[in-house]
Amino acid sequence: MRTSLSIVLSLTLLAPAQGLSQNALSVDGLRVEYLTNPIGIDVVQPRLSWRIASTRRNTMQAAYQLQVGTSEASLTRGANLLWDSGKMVSGASVFVDYGGPQTLSRTRYYWRVRVWDSSGRTSPWSAAAFWETGLLQPGDWTAEWITPPPTAADSLPSPSPFLRRAFRVGDAVRSARLYVTSLGLYEIYLNGQRVGDQLFTPGWTSYRRRLQYQTYDVTALLRSGANVVGAMLGDGWYRGNLGFFRQRNLYGRQLALLAQLEIRYQSGRTERVVSDRDWKASAGPILSSDIYGGETYDARRELSGWAAAGAPYDDRNWTTVGVLVYPPPAALVASLSPPVRRVRELRAVAIRLAPSGETIFDLGQNFTGWARLSVRGPAGTTVTLRFGEVLDREGNLYTANLRAAAQTDRYTLSGNGREVYEPHFTFHGFRYVAVRGLPAPADSATITGIAVSSDLAQTGSLVTSDSLLNQLQRNIVWGQRSNFLDVPTDCPQRDERLGWTGDAQVFARTAAFNMDVAGFFAKWLSDVAADQDPSGSVPWVIPNPLGGDSTHFAGTAGWSDVAVIVPWTMYLTYGDRRLLERQYPSMRAWVDYARRRAGTGLIWRPGWQFGDWLALHSDDPSYPGATTGTDLIATAFLAHSTDLVSRTAAILGHESDAAEYRARFRAIREAFNREFVSRTGRVGENTQTAYTLAIAFDLLPDSLVSVAGGRLAQDVEARDHHLTTGFLGTPYLLHVLGATGHLGDAFALLTQRTYPSWLYPITRGATTMWERWDGIRPDSSFEDPGMNSFNHYAFGAVGDWMYQNIGGIDVDSAGPGYRRARIAPRPGAGLTSASASLETAYGMLKSAWRLEGRRFVLDVAVPANTSAEVTLWDARVADVREGGVPLDGRDGVRSARQRGNNVIVDVGSGTYSFAVTP
Ligand code: BGC
Repeated sequence: MRTSLSIVLSLTLLAPAQGLSQNALSVDGLRVEYLTNPIGIDVVQPRLSWRIASTRRNTMQAAYQLQVGTSEASLTRGANLLWDSGKMVSGASVFVDYGGPQTLSRTRYYWRVRVWDSSGRTSPWSAAAFWETGLLQPGDWTAEWITPPPTAADSLPSPSPFLRRAFRVGDAVRSARLYVTSLGLYEIYLNGQRVGDQLFTPGWTSYRRRLQYQTYDVTALLRSGANVVGAMLGDGWYRGNLGFFRQRNLYGRQLALLAQLEIRYQSGRTERVVSDRDWKASAGPILSSDIYGGETYDARRELSGWAAAGAPYDDRNWTTVGVLVYPPPAALVASLSPPVRRVRELRAVAIRLAPSGETIFDLGQNFTGWARLSVRGPAGTTVTLRFGEVLDREGNLYTANLRAAAQTDRYTLSGNGREVYEPHFTFHGFRYVAVRGLPAPADSATITGIAVSSDLAQTGSLVTSDSLLNQLQRNIVWGQRSNFLDVPTDCPQRDERLGWTGDAQVFARTAAFNMDVAGFFAKWLSDVAADQDPSGSVPWVIPNPLGGDSTHFAGTAGWSDVAVIVPWTMYLTYGDRRLLERQYPSMRAWVDYARRRAGTGLIWRPGWQFGDWLALHSDDPSYPGATTGTDLIATAFLAHSTDLVSRTAAILGHESDAAEYRARFRAIREAFNREFVSRTGRVGENTQTAYTLAIAFDLLPDSLVSVAGGRLAQDVEARDHHLTTGFLGTPYLLHVLGATGHLGDAFALLTQRTYPSWLYPITRGATTMWERWDGIRPDSSFEDPGMNSFNHYAFGAVGDWMYQNIGGIDVDSAGPGYRRARIAPRPGAGLTSASASLETAYGMLKSAWRLEGRRFVLDVAVPANTSAEVTLWDARVADVREGGVPLDGRDGVRSARQRGNNVIVDVGSGTYSFAVTP
């Protein structure tokens, strides 16, 4: 009995392996633009991407075939196709243009793909995937912009309006779509159910020019007979408090909703229920809701059943809505970036009574979101929740650093059993919740942290043998999660939370390791271009509600350079050429503008600069300025962006532009050398940032690079391995040390634990990146509360160095989007192992190494249709084994050679295990 059972078992275990024969080649991971099976997109010629899985090493795609149909059945039969590409001889598997007939509004396109590889194998057809278009023409919208009746309090935080409309569904429904957007934020309901799980819709864009709408498949929410659609609106970014000047109504005064429900019946008939004068409005339980301020909610005022279909609801007391006479001027655009969602729940790790009398819940992690309150108590009891990132020395919630942002929620109980409350149109940056007014003693279920963020796939991971470095990596990821909330913000807690361009610029490369930010930045870059001044100047914050012109709140080196550096970074990391093409006019306009500012001498001096923001000042460490001259920094960035525009022009085939910007780059470089570089290799004020930028941006003559690198290393050593850099120098510092032969100094800086350093905040319990190196000073006092965020990702820009050097993963610019990767981990600082992985557009790229005595073992995975250059430092070809045997003739190893002290192995796709035994 036992024998036959084990035979059966082993046969079953063998079966799948045999099915997946030696030659298996398959296609999956189908994506359209930046999403999987998106609905409601408005890209008329979307780009299609797929991943190839292969059991064989060195698999490259030789050809592909795409088929598109308007029904899944016809697609799988291969009949009545809308488009068949035929066999295309091409290696492209990422961002391949759809080439069929013009796409139409509200249509679902099913597609599939198969591939041939370079050894002649053909994959089966992939499973079918789809995309569905939204409303592509302005004329597709028949809904009207409706607005609740204005109240006297419109210029103050006022109650959130509720809007509703009842309608009947007569026939059997085949499908239904709801297209929605708003001025202000919206939540929409059908028959009492919240539609979708997206938060902070319609998102934040350059509202005067681009307004996103969302498309929801609501087929399952409709019922035959009576139905109700209802919405609530919040002030949000549109008219709530925004910016550091305590202003409201920056985009407009009136909230409004545009909603279009389209029902297709089985019979073929279609019907629309749209926002129009038939809708009614009322105030409800949300008495006020403000992004900085928080929400005040009175559960006694709940409008029970207002959006439910079942029992008839008496809305006679509701008022009729108005229709906006002048619809907003912005173009309605579909959202392409992954939406904001709840992404984590956090339980309290400690609950204690503070001297203030409040109960303090410690959620163990600084983050962005809110608290879910669960209470039971008498009607009319008000529970007040205040949110903060740290506690003061007495153990009270510290809120001075929140400036004017109250981030306080107030909930008044209805008295009906257990009440569970979450706010609607606000978010907070916090780790601690201070609660007052609880009707009963708190327990661990009273408060639950709800983390919200743009729901971006976590694509990267990095784990090392050093727990402090691992904590640093976690803090960087939490900083990103906390601040990638539809736009990349500086911080999530004080009265700011704006799309600061400098912060996003320095962090973009790291961000692209941790998460899939391709769609997120593609969306935001549209707003960069939309809000760019006609002069070419780029605002400090995007979207820009601050107003200004080319020089007010705009046009600053290192910040405005976001217009060039981020599109370039997205091209490198995702191979997004169309994005580069789209942003090219914006990129050029910025460098042209900056050069005009610099004038004929090409040294950019005039105007306000942030410089190396938050660098250490030589005599006052709390001074938010820079020790490196702002003219040096501005000129360096001008050179660098000009260089990137020249490279971009070359990639896009604009040859004469490429030559012109190349010549400009050289001229700026010469000017830089004349002005800031001595013959002995001293750069500017002799600061870490001066050397770092000059070398990173290739501004020095070859003969001076190593001298300047040496001077930089000397400074670092003289400071006992402490950094002095701010926002702009920090991202490049370790790269430059490594590239000029001072890797040891780079590791020593990274692993430094005393102030100022990356790890110092961790020794003080940080769970996110701090805005300042000394947010909490060594003497335990706080930095100036005017600017002391504990959740600012900018200094987390060191993450890309860690991935590239400790993990060993990088893109080769010759194969953007990781078509070609570089694997070159560098053990240092006593680390004994590290492993990094990155889910690229082609599949999983991995690099994991460990030291086994004197033996260095490196495990690598390279996705199909890509290749990688693997560097084994300080090794000889003869000492290297792969899978236990010499490299010569190993399957998948295309070449192996000695380059100086290192071995360079060129591999095709597959998994490899290298070992170097000296
Ligand atoms: C923000 C920054 C931003 C800076 C401009 C600050 O208030 O929080 O991160 O880049 O202003 O210097």
